[in-house]
Amino acid sequence: MKAPALIILLVSLTLIGYQIYRYSTLNQELIDAQNEFASSTLVFADKLKNLQTDLTKANQENIDLNDSLTAERDRNDNFEDQINNITDKVGVLDKLSKTDPQLLLKYSKIFFLNEHYVPPKLTEIEAPYSYQLNDQSKPEQILTDVWPYLKDLLTEATRANINLQIISGYRSFGEQTSLKSGYKFIYGAGTANQFSADQGYSEHQLGTTVDFTTIGVGASFKGFELTPAYQWLTDNAHKYGFTLSYPKGNNYYLFEPWHWRFVGVKLATKLQRDNQHFYDLNQRTINQYLIDLFD
Ligand code: DAL
Repeated sequence: MKAPALIILLVSLTLIGYQIYRYSTLNQELIDAQNEFASSTLVFADKLKNLQTDLTKANQENIDLNDSLTAERDRNDNFEDQINNITDKVGVLDKLSKTDPQLLLKYSKIFFLNEHYVPPKLTEIEAPYSYQLNDQSKPEQILTDVWPYLKDLLTEATRANINLQIISGYRSFGEQTSLKSGYKFIYGAGTANQFSADQGYSEHQLGTTVDFTTIGVGASFKGFELTPAYQWLTDNAHKYGFTLSYPKGNNYYLFEPWHWRFVGVKLATKLQRDNQHFYDLNQRTINQYLIDLFD
């Protein structure tokens, strides 16, 4: 073999050898990388699994916490409801304790007010709503708590061009005694008992009751039931808490279209709606309206 050919052979063999060496080195690197990747993947999968376990645990803890929170909120709501309930009851009891139960009792020959029963506070019925029998007569009076309702009634009536005046408001036990004695003397007890209450049985002693009159009728009450004033009262008095005590055919007295008693807007409106009168209801039913008397 000639020298150049030998050189080419040697160079070729060297190159081939180097390529083989290079290939095996790269192959080993590849295997190493694959092994490393496989091992990293395993570690990663393991970490992922651990993370998932932690996450599931954390989720469960979160659910448990939420459940506890909801249960705690429910307990609090329940407690608040109980407190509100008790507060409401205390409010009702407080309101009831401040409302005179006598104000909704049936008088008119049923319940009795003794001579010591005097309304806690009375208000004079201002002009022009007080009917003056003569120059000496004092203005009529009404229970102070009832006055705002009566005043609204009178104001609205005036606005509707209806003339209404109070001829009799609060009457003490003593005043009723004198009045009734006078009637007995003039008309005899039988007749007087048909239109006048004995002392202690008059709704006027409560201070919540008024006798209305109007121009042209005056103190005689004659024909009051035929006046626009009576018609207006029949249609509107309930809105201000007043109701007619002695309608036609009642069991106590002759028809008294002028005699109206304050029983609160709620009860008066119920009576109007049901076409009933105060004495048609039993006392137990009436008492349920005491709490709303001044609402
Ligand atoms: N006139 C009514 C009945 C009273 O005297 O109270």
